[in-house]
Amino acid sequence: MQAATVALFRAQFGHEPAWIARAPGRVNLIGEHTDYNDGFVFPAAIDRFTWIAASPTDGLSELVSANLGLAAPVDVTDSIPGAVTDWGQYAAGMAWAFREAGYSVGNLRAAVASNVPMGSGVSSSAALEMALAAYWQAESGLDVDQVAMAKIGQRCENGYIGLRTGIMDQLASANGRAGAAMFIDTRSLEIAYAPVPSGLSMVILDTLKPRALTASAYNERRSQCEAAAAVLGVASLRDATLAGLEAAVDQMDPTAFRRARHVISENQRCLDFRLALENSDLDQIGALMAGSHNSLRDDYEVSCTELDAMVEAALASPGVVGVRMTGAGFGGCCIALVNSSQVDAFNRSCLTAYKGKTGLAGMAETCLAADGATAERWVS
Ligand code: GLA
Repeated sequence: MQAATVALFRAQFGHEPAWIARAPGRVNLIGEHTDYNDGFVFPAAIDRFTWIAASPTDGLSELVSANLGLAAPVDVTDSIPGAVTDWGQYAAGMAWAFREAGYSVGNLRAAVASNVPMGSGVSSSAALEMALAAYWQAESGLDVDQVAMAKIGQRCENGYIGLRTGIMDQLASANGRAGAAMFIDTRSLEIAYAPVPSGLSMVILDTLKPRALTASAYNERRSQCEAAAAVLGVASLRDATLAGLEAAVDQMDPTAFRRARHVISENQRCLDFRLALENSDLDQIGALMAGSHNSLRDDYEVSCTELDAMVEAALASPGVVGVRMTGAGFGGCCIALVNSSQVDAFNRSCLTAYKGKTGLAGMAETCLAADGATAERWVS
């Protein structure tokens, strides 16, 4: 992938790039839709990367992607939200977010290639943002650490792209560590690395159902959480309890009540999952992942027929330890933890059953927990 990215750069611009940067996608094992409520999440960066070969330029930024083609040339040094609508908005938005954070970054020529599936809930956007951040951090010698890079990426999503996301995806992509998942308190931004238990494999199950209406539905969920927190008189749902929620049932819109019940219970599942993983308690791991999926389906209403069908298919397949939808939802992928010795049988059985239920082929891919975003000088 690195060689292909450099080759694309040469073909497009006729010279060698100065830098090569890469950043991973992520899966989330548990803790979904909790990050914008100051809660707990448990992602792992994965060995699927977005690569950028890049050089600074005095002219407008010129961007080419192996998947998406050319973006319109843009001056990223003074672009404001709303100005760019093609995929160049990630470069313009990151440059804008760097400025908002007090750093100035320059225009670039860049070639982008990626094997992070797009629109599937495994953070292809965050991977692109963090690869760009790593490039600018290195190229401009900025005093910006990985956590600050993640904050800048979230600012880009919130302020420039218009998606009111939390910080999980960018933190995972920037701070990933090979072999480890990451228990993150999104209030303190403290990260505790937790090894993926030996003998278990992480399998991404792609429904091949593209996500739909994600932006509006996502932002609506966040507003509903904020409304619930206001009724409960807490700064965020992180500070709420199930008992407090039950006591306020009469004052709350029933939808906001269910949204809050998901977030409060999911935070607890995330804490319990951490212990279960430490103890290699496979039954508990499975039960918590099932609880998470059901809560996302019934209370948070971000699952869909295909994600539910994939979970059912996986639960009936050999070697499964736990499975749930991963990411924002509304289509995209599930994450399954599977006994490593049974992955092939699991994949066959799961995809056959999924096809029987939906008519869709689906896709199963094992991934490994990977290191986070990096950039280095390109030496041909
Ligand atoms: C998207 C967002 C994250 C998080 C998840 C849901 O991936 O970017 O911040 O909210 O959805 O857990």
